[in-house]
Parts: sequence; structure tokens; C-alpha cells
Amino acid sequence: MRIGIWGTGGIARAHTRHFARLDGAELVMYDLDPARAEAMAATVGGRAVATAEELLAAVDGVVIAVPTDAHYACARQALEAGKHVLLEKPITRSLEQADELIALAQAKGVHLVPAHVSRFFPEFVAARDRVNKGAVGTPAAIRVYRGGKAPQGTEGWFQNLARSGGVILDLAVHDFDWLLWTFGPVERIYCRSVRMGAEARDVPGDYALATITFQNGAVAHLESCWMDPLGFNIAFEVAGSEGLISFDARAVAGLRITGAVQASGTNRDASDDPFYGQAKMFGAVLQGAAPTVSAQEGRAALALALAAEESANTHRVIVMDPATASV
Ligand SMILES: NC(=O)c1ccc[n+]([C@@H]2O[C@H](COP(=O)([O-])OP(=O)(O)OC[C@H]3O[C@@H](n4cnc5c(N)ncnc54)[C@H](O)[C@@H]3O)[C@@H](O)[C@H]2O)c1
Repeated sequence: MRIGIWGTGGIARAHTRHFARLDGAELVMYDLDPARAEAMAATVGGRAVATAEELLAAVDGVVIAVPTDAHYACARQALEAGKHVLLEKPITRSLEQADELIALAQAKGVHLVPAHVSRFFPEFVAARDRVNKGAVGTPAAIRVYRGGKAPQGTEGWFQNLARSGGVILDLAVHDFDWLLWTFGPVERIYCRSVRMGAEARDVPGDYALATITFQNGAVAHLESCWMDPLGFNIAFEVAGSEGLISFDARAVAGLRITGAVQASGTNRDASDDPFYGQAKMFGAVLQGAAPTVSAQEGRAALALALAAEESANTHRVIVMDPATASV
């Protein structure tokens, strides 16, 4: 299995470590900064190449982990070359770009798979399964929180809203995806957001609070934050007619290890790591299986994030187009 890693920055470390564990995986890496690709190849195993063309010639599929504003151009080149693509979230910076890539993947007969890694977190999967099995009866009210310190990225690209989309497109998109996957299509969304230190502070940026009404009548309260001094946390709660499901990563007495293992960025057993689950799924796609997350679902999460951004900018409720509110 020949896997390309396109972009060898922060999140590529998680992908590469887990792709390297797949049976028969052969990793090839490319980055605009050759020293980064070489350093990653030396650490994890595999080889670095000097151009995107060399990368595409050497692999069956690629993981694209470049800054968000570069997703479209890199994915387009990979799809044109007939390669399956695992594309970091959000799928693209605009819906037009997403539509073009979806059509191109179809025309080329390859899979475009958005890397919505929440689909592989045991807690998010278990909560969705229980909701679907009626464990809380009819879901009525949902709360989701995701937050941490503001990321910077190479040359600070996360802080450039035109490049990253800020906390709404970059961070909340994980929860928009999980909410759509678990509770179905959205009817309307209202969002307020604030940018730290900006002249016009009341604009999308570092903190966002959204109220989402689903077509099934449930309401979700979503909070996403790049200003949390305590570091990264995720939490959710689903209240329904028969009960409540809740999860708070900080409250769970997990196994905490300081030292070499901690450097991997997780305190989970490696077999439970969401990035391993995602790597196994994409590895199966390279061997002919259908992906478990579709490009249309990536588009739906982006559409909801863009609606939240529009609401934050206009202070209006945004009513979703029922035809494209989910897939
Ligand atoms: N799933 C998650 O939990 C998660 C977490 C962090 C980031 N991300 C996403 O992953 C993507 C990358 O984020 P990051 O934190 O790794 O950023 P980063 O800045 O740490 O790394 C990006 C890398 O891409 C390289 N690069 C830039 N343009 C390139 C190009 N055209 N061709 C080749 N290499 C190029 C840069 O040199 C850098 O090494 C973003 O879309 C981000 O939203 C996802």
C-alpha cells in the first residue's frame, strides 16, 4: 500500500504515525519545505520527495494536510492524477471549490474522503449509536464544546481568517459534522463570534457560540473556543425524553503518561486512537472498500460552518437550504 503524505506539518505527524502502522504501508512524503518532509521520513520511516509530481507518481492515494486555503489546489492535482484523497477538514474554503472537487473525483472514479476524525473518536461514535438505539428517547437538547489555545501553524496561517476561516471553519466544523451525522439535517442556525484584539471585535474569529435547530425539532448549543487557557478539551451532552448522555474529556479519569508516550499527543491505547481508525479506513479505500465518510458529508459540514460565519457577520438567523442541509 503506497501512501503519500502531502504537507508534513503539525497534524501530518498524527496521520503519518498511524499510517505507518498499517500492514504493508509504504510512505512517501512531500512538503514545500523539503527539510520538514525529510525530518518526518527520518523519524517515522518512508522517503521524502522533492515535488508534488514525484509524490503522485509514487503512490496509490494521498493524505492532504496542508493549510486550508491550499486544500483545493492540492486535492485537484491529486484527483486529476487519478489518486484517492484523504483531505483534511474543512474540505475546502468555499462550497464552489468543494463542488468542483466532488465532480472531479466522480469523473476520475476515485474517492475524495474528508478527514472528519471525530467519526473515529470512541465517545462520539458510542453516543451516536446510543442515540440511534433510542437510549435517550427523542433527543431534544444537545450541547457541544470544543476548545483550546489558538493554533498558529506554519507562518501563523491559522490566524489569517481568509486562509483558515477562524474557529468556526477550522474547529467547530468537527462538531457540525458530528451533529449532522447524529441528528440529521439542520433547519436554521444563529451564531455570535468574537475575534480577540481585532478592531471590529464582533466578527468571526476566536470564539463562537451557535444555536442550531434541526429539522427533527431538536436544538443544539455549540461552543467553540481558541481562547481556553486550560488547553484542549471536548465535551458534549444529549438530553432526550428518556435520559441524558454526557461526556467531558477533562472529567474522565484517563490514563495520563508524561514522557515519550505523551509526545505522541494522546493518552489513549494506540489501537483506540482516532487517527489509527481513520488511517485503517483510508487504507481499506486504497484496497477497494467504500469510504465511511463521504465528500458530500464534508460539503454539508462546510455549508453549516459557512452559514454560522454568515450569521456571525450579519447577526441574522440563517435558514438552511433544505435540499443541501445534509446528505
Ligand atoms: N483533524 C484535526 O484534528 C486537525 C488538527 C489540526 C489541523 N488540521 C487541519 O490540517 C491541515 C494542516 O494543518 P497543520 O496544523 O498541520 O498546519 P501546519 O502549518 O503545521 O502544516 C502545514 C504544512 O504544509 C506545508 N505546505 C503548505 N502548503 C503546501 C503545499 N502547497 N504543498 C506542500 N506542502 C505545503 C507547510 O510547509 C507545512 O509543513 C489544515 O487543514 C488544518 O485545518 C486538522
